[in-house]
Amino acid sequence: MEHWDHFLAPYKQAVEELKVKLRGMRGEFELNTTHSPIEFVTGRVKPIASILDKANQKGIPLDKLETEMQDIAGLRMMCQFVDDIKRVVELLRTRNDFEIVEERNYISHKKASGYRSYHVVIRYPVQTISGEKKILVEIQIRTLAMNFWATIEHSLNYKYKGQFPKDIQIRLQRASEAAFRLDEEMSLIRGEIQEAQAFFTLKKETQQEGKGSK
Ligand code: GTP
Ligand code: MG
Repeated sequence: MEHWDHFLAPYKQAVEELKVKLRGMRGEFELNTTHSPIEFVTGRVKPIASILDKANQKGIPLDKLETEMQDIAGLRMMCQFVDDIKRVVELLRTRNDFEIVEERNYISHKKASGYRSYHVVIRYPVQTISGEKKILVEIQIRTLAMNFWATIEHSLNYKYKGQFPKDIQIRLQRASEAAFRLDEEMSLIRGEIQEAQAFFTLKKETQQEGKGSK
């Protein structure tokens, strides 16, 4: 539908731009320090069918999508450690290329489903041929363990349409607790892990230098 192409164009533009910008932060960390608080960044524009489903479920009129659906453009920033999330959020707050409109902390307040993540909703200016257009973008910041759980839960949700059988629901709750404990354990040996990672980065670099001089 032509109308959708026009509507989604600035969202596609924003996702592409923000992927470059947020991945750029990771690149900068790699140049300057050994540990990057950002492991990897993904982004997507919500498929039309999902936009329609959600609008329907939430009773959002289609002419109000721009203001009432915050995650048509979505980015995810994955971190190794829970403490990295705070650092990433602080960095987002200092940027001048967008404005933060909302933050939701589902880490200190996990959802009933067991979901944990930090959400930042931004208003991002896209430059178009008919001038500047500001759109809402949702950035989810989470650890690899939180991402693992959310990805699995999301696929099951899709399968069961949100109506989980009791046993699955219990398993998901347990898996969420296990992911939480995994994050805690990793935090406790963070120093050890980072030392090892720094050692391997150094080793790789010396090997590459060695190859270069031959
Ligand atoms: P949405 O209707 O999903 O937008 O919920 P909301 O308006 O309350 O916003 P919220 O910040 O809670 O959730 C936005 C996004 O977070 C969703 O689109 C999902 O990507 C993610 N999310 C929220 N809750 C869950 C959950 O229980 N499981 C999974 N897998 N993802 C979730
Ligand atoms: Mg939402």
